Amino acid sequence: MPTMLEVSGLTHQYGQGERAHVAVRDLAFTIESGQLACIVGPSGCGKSTLLRCISGLIPATGGSVRLHGDEVSGVPGDLAVVFQDYSRSLFPWLTVAKNVEFPLRWQKVSKAERSQRAAEVLESVGLSGVGKKYPWQLSGGMQQRVSIARALVSRPALLLMDEPFASVDAQTRGELEDLTRRVQRDLGSTILLVTHDIDESVYLADRVLVLSKSPASIVADLTIDLPAERNQITTRESERFVSLRGEVARLLQSPQVQRPGEPDPATAESGPGTTTVETGDTAGTADTAEAAARS
Ligand SMILES: Nc1ncnc2c1ncn2[C@@H]1O[C@H](COP(=O)(O)OP(=O)(O)OP(=O)(O)O)[C@@H](O)[C@H]1O
Ligand SMILES: [Mg+2]
Repeated sequence: MPTMLEVSGLTHQYGQGERAHVAVRDLAFTIESGQLACIVGPSGCGKSTLLRCISGLIPATGGSVRLHGDEVSGVPGDLAVVFQDYSRSLFPWLTVAKNVEFPLRWQKVSKAERSQRAAEVLESVGLSGVGKKYPWQLSGGMQQRVSIARALVSRPALLLMDEPFASVDAQTRGELEDLTRRVQRDLGSTILLVTHDIDESVYLADRVLVLSKSPASIVADLTIDLPAERNQITTRESERFVSLRGEVARLLQSPQVQRPGEPDPATAESGPGTTTVETGDTAGTADTAEAAARS
């Protein structure tokens, strides 16, 4: 599969001098076209900063981001972002259909095609028939579906999602997770999604990147070798799911995540920031070792 996203040596520092804060340090990873990758990491470790750098909303202070080979220096036209807070990201004075059509205003798309594409994408997120309503007339879960539809309408090469389901109830969250996987499969989208929720990362992803505490660096890169067809009940009950979620949880509790840069006594000769994962379960750890070698 061709590479969609290449992040190399990415560093972002907020402020200067005494007030300087390095949020992300020397991050490197690639995302292949058609992948659904999740990022998990402790609160405040720099996940949103990373997504902002990838989306060109803020410039990196070091390293580079390439989207299908082109260096990102502003917000790329073929990239879309879904934020956590749907109530602040949708325009309350526009109907649902007009909200969804909004990104197409800057593309050479006729009015008729705009409304057709909005209707199609609303149908794909299970919201046909609500185009004439206003966002505030919908439930929270429906509003987040509208945000997802709006992100998909411009057929982005890469969809970034920052804690997209954190504001909805547990059942809606499960429905939105399934929707994300279905849409990703049907449209062949490439998605990079940030979540706090370990179970969610394993359930959703083909791959989970685990970040260290601030400044974020990658401590593991796990392949999620669960079957492509997932089910909220049976997948989460499966032995492999339980094993993978345990592996991610252990990584998040590891000293490398809690104290980046400080050598772990067990792996001190390998240098700071290096992680060796011993889970007794070798499947899925090859990428972890590779990531550790890169860090
Ligand atoms: N605009 C800013 N100016 C200065 N520091 C900032 C700014 N935005 C974020 N930070 C700091 O950078 C660090 C990383 O923040 P970021 O929002 O990227 O973390 P996060 O991993 O997304 O956190 P959370 O899981 O809580 O959403 C934090 O210490 C934060 O205080
Ligand atoms: Mg964040």
